[in-house]
Amino acid sequence: MTREEALESIKVNVENQNLVKHMLATEAIMRALARRLGEDEEVWGLTGLLHDIDVELTEGDMKAHSKLGADLARELGAGETIAHAILSHNEAHGIPLTTKLDKALFCADPLTGLITAAALVHPDKKLAGLEAESVIRRFKEKGFAAGANREQISQCSEIGFELDDFLQLGLEAMQEIAASLGL
Ligand SMILES: [Fe+2]
Repeated sequence: MTREEALESIKVNVENQNLVKHMLATEAIMRALARRLGEDEEVWGLTGLLHDIDVELTEGDMKAHSKLGADLARELGAGETIAHAILSHNEAHGIPLTTKLDKALFCADPLTGLITAAALVHPDKKLAGLEAESVIRRFKEKGFAAGANREQISQCSEIGFELDDFLQLGLEAMQEIAASLGL
């Protein structure tokens, strides 16, 4: 599966552009993580890009979410490594995070929301001027972007990251694709 094929399938299955941006942001973070960890950047990027492809199709049914996504990824030609990461990122299935890829997707997923929210309260509402320190400060503010699960983000330790380093990597990754994110 090429990235273009994955994007084509996203176009067919996802209408909400904020959801598309969330998947693009997750892809960017996953690519940056793969580069840092010496993993396969294409595989990690596709996992991030496709992980929520079924969100609209499953209409809030958490028992179906990510099962259908894993199937769609398989149909596109993704291997079991990608399918398992997509499947296990939804805790509702109780599937343990086993591979490094599973663990990376799990902690990268909520990070996009925290960084997006931090950019939107920035005076120019852009990622460009946002500093890692301010993302770190926002992380510690419990009421800020409460949907961005801090415990889940903190699990970056499972792939060998210090929290501050992880937040900075996520910010820089999203800054690289700021134009596509409209930030
Ligand atoms: Fe997600």
